[in-house]
Amino acid sequence: MKRALLVTIPWLLAAGPPAAGPQYDHEGRLLRPRGYREWKFIGANYGMGYSEHAAPKKDPTFHNIYIQPESFREFAATGRFPDKTILVMEVYRAGTNASINRQGAFQDAFLGVEAAVKDEQRFPEKWAYFNFIGGGGKEREAAAAFPKQACWSCHNEHGAADNVFVQFYPLLREARK
Ligand code: HEC
Repeated sequence: MKRALLVTIPWLLAAGPPAAGPQYDHEGRLLRPRGYREWKFIGANYGMGYSEHAAPKKDPTFHNIYIQPESFREFAATGRFPDKTILVMEVYRAGTNASINRQGAFQDAFLGVEAAVKDEQRFPEKWAYFNFIGGGGKEREAAAAFPKQACWSCHNEHGAADNVFVQFYPLLREARK
């Protein structure tokens, strides 16, 4: 009994890795994260474009961003995301003309998800980026990591903390105040 207590207490005190960590197939592709709608919702963005000279988007989308609750708590306490953190970004087409709506936009067709994963042993740059939005409205079940230049570099250079665009997610911004 005494021994069980000694073993249990340090485990309770340590924050520990997120319960729902990244899963891969035998080719090392990330499996599409499941159950993320039960995680912590940290913010939503509309129609953002990242390149300076681009024309306004014809088809703006909404982004909804979720993180595992354990990673949220660790970030709030330390300003760092623990190993095995996943951020899921849902993408929705914006709708305008429907029902009684005459102004503004709502989240219409679901297009799929992208994911950012911190896996320190697996990825030399610690973070890797994935897109599960398939052609023809079909979601991909598994996705390979993009090369560093495609995603990581911008996230690393411009993300406010540890590769993540904390500056655009109100719950992460507030957690660090
Ligand atoms: C030129 C800069 C840039 C590039 C390149 C880029 N992103 Fe992002 N990404 C952003 C910004 C800004 C946000 C936050 C705002 C938003 O889009 O909602 C973001 C947010 C994300 C998020 C939400 C979690 C986070 O890290 O903040 C995911 C997931 C993501 N991007 C995936 C990707 C993938 C996959 C690629 C490569 C195919 C990619 N990004 C390339 C700028 C970039």
